[in-house]
Amino acid sequence: MLQKITDLLQEVSSISVKNSEELELFRLKYLSKKGLISDLFEDFKDVPGSQKKEIGQKLNLLKQSALKKFNLLKTELQNQDEKTDIDFSRPAFPYNLGSRHPISIVRNELIDIFTRIGFTVSEGPEIEDDDHVFTKLNFAPEHPARDMQDTFYISRLSLEDSNPEDILLRTHTSSVQVRVMQNQKPPIRTISPGRVFRNEAISARAHCIFHQIEGLYIDENVSYADLRQTLLFFARELFGKETKIRLRPSYFPFTEPSAEMDVSCKICGGKGCNVCKHTGWLEILGCGMVHPNVLEACNIDSKKYTGFAFGMGIERAAMLKYGVNDLRLYFENDLRFLDQFKSAF
Ligand code: PHE
Repeated sequence: MLQKITDLLQEVSSISVKNSEELELFRLKYLSKKGLISDLFEDFKDVPGSQKKEIGQKLNLLKQSALKKFNLLKTELQNQDEKTDIDFSRPAFPYNLGSRHPISIVRNELIDIFTRIGFTVSEGPEIEDDDHVFTKLNFAPEHPARDMQDTFYISRLSLEDSNPEDILLRTHTSSVQVRVMQNQKPPIRTISPGRVFRNEAISARAHCIFHQIEGLYIDENVSYADLRQTLLFFARELFGKETKIRLRPSYFPFTEPSAEMDVSCKICGGKGCNVCKHTGWLEILGCGMVHPNVLEACNIDSKKYTGFAFGMGIERAAMLKYGVNDLRLYFENDLRFLDQFKSAF
């Protein structure tokens, strides 16, 4: 029996296990109730008294060694598991961070610029009626902008004549400003960003869906100088402190006088290049003093109040800001294009 215990001591100390199944087999073989060590304790009862002390000590030693070995193997296995499951030295997965669309970036930047000088943001429906898009804005009934070529009509009462109740997709966000004027008393200082629709062939310079921001300022004694100064502030905030502006006479039914504003070309600094077609200037927006007919149509006393308005395409502003030469890029959702725009806005 002594020999058997010595052999088992040897055996237990040399055992190693690769996984938890083998560890369980070890436990069953040596340490369980039906295991080898229990058997020896069973046999111990028949050992003659003279050998009991020596064999008893050896048997206890075997039991303790087996237990110790079992615990050792168990912790070894646990450490091994941790090592194989998680590799802390492995580089993290490269997360693809999203970025804002350039149109959103420029829209948010424009909103930021104008809200800093006291403009509120107003929004309105994309599906509008003729009254808000044209009639209240002093468009003569036969004005060409109402023509089917420019406007997407949803329902038209008569194909020959326009009617204030005709339903259409708004061609500019000036319609939102009509709604503001109808619902608020001056002073009014608001910008309306939004999507607009015009029935135009899609090309590098035009699209049938695009975005605008239009501004409106109505109060007592608002002058053309206020308009000019506001637009100069805006141009310098968006395009840089060195930017110059110039206003050219133009025509819009809802403003008088009307003007178009150019900004000095950012790319050549005004010297002349391909982008500005060697003029040194880039057209950016339309503007003017609100026509008294528009104020009266919206129940604002045109003797007491004056105002200015302006409107620009956000795609165009973004093209000038980022040097993008094809409007269609904004709508194609090509990540190679979109990934280039990262911004705080
Ligand atoms: N609504 C005009 C457009 O869509 C822009 C504009 C707004 C012009 C306000 C003058 C004043 O082109």
